[in-house]
Amino acid sequence: MKATVKAHTNIALIKYWGKRDEALFLPTNNSLSVTLDKFYTITTVEFLPALQADEFYFNGELAEEKELMKISAFLDRVRANAKKPMFACVKSQNHVPTAAGFASSASGYAALAAASAKAIGLQLTDRELSQLARQGSGSASRSIFGGYVEWEKGSNADGSDCYAQQILKKDAWDLRILSVEVTTKAKKVLSREGMKRTVQTSPFFAGWLEAVEQDLIAIKEAINERDFTKLGQVVEANALKMHATTLGANPPFMYWQSATVEVMQEVQALREKGIEAYFTIDAGPNVKIVCQPEEEQVIHESLETLPVVQQIHHCRIGPGITYL
Ligand code: PMV
Repeated sequence: MKATVKAHTNIALIKYWGKRDEALFLPTNNSLSVTLDKFYTITTVEFLPALQADEFYFNGELAEEKELMKISAFLDRVRANAKKPMFACVKSQNHVPTAAGFASSASGYAALAAASAKAIGLQLTDRELSQLARQGSGSASRSIFGGYVEWEKGSNADGSDCYAQQILKKDAWDLRILSVEVTTKAKKVLSREGMKRTVQTSPFFAGWLEAVEQDLIAIKEAINERDFTKLGQVVEANALKMHATTLGANPPFMYWQSATVEVMQEVQALREKGIEAYFTIDAGPNVKIVCQPEEEQVIHESLETLPVVQQIHHCRIGPGITYL
């Protein structure tokens, strides 16, 4: 009744932004990501008849009550599904620089879903695991798979047709992602809260939903044709449109800081010199840059010169979950 799973983070090229059902984590739009090789979570789950409650250790230390409650609520779904009312000891090791603005929740819930299902004896397909992981954190639905992944929003009210699937293997197109950490002070609006406020109050949200459909069509063409320029243009524009919705929310909010804008402008300046770099930004101030292998080094060197840049992590496209 014990299993260990490794799951990697992912970065959305077309963003998941907005839920149509908060409880079931059903999104308003499809999203598309690449899984990253460098950042991952390893989680061990052991169900033990002797336990009176769940236990959760995060990076070797007993986690706070608030974190334990989230994990327990997730395990309740697994227990109900398996019809085994048994508590578990969960040990999670994160190899994700959380300061780099990567949603460690994506790798975290993907690893937890797969390890807990295996440990309790559920035999779930990757599609079913994606649906389970989704109910911990939406972006986790994509981290079950490696390579290029699309999360289908589906249309059923129960979420039965809402899951991610691989659309291209990781080795089929070797792109690189640079994660650029910038100096930051402000506290961020969590993605859950940010999405909710945007859906409920931003007049720009309707425009986002319209645009994202077009962006998905364009990015899939770019992927099929291995057209990097087209892909990069769609990625950058899609991120900007997502962030534009936050400016229309009530109260308005923004994830960018001055350092974020400096990096964005440097990327645009690189393009003016003929170097193909494109940025994307999640619910935080850090910037991720998508590029081709041959231009990775020159992009790194130019970003390094910016005083606001603290660290640059280099990622390749990574694999899906593995059972250890
Ligand atoms: O799944 P969450 O709650 O971590 O939300 C992720 C939201 C974004 O990172 C902004 C976009 C995405 O698709 O990952």
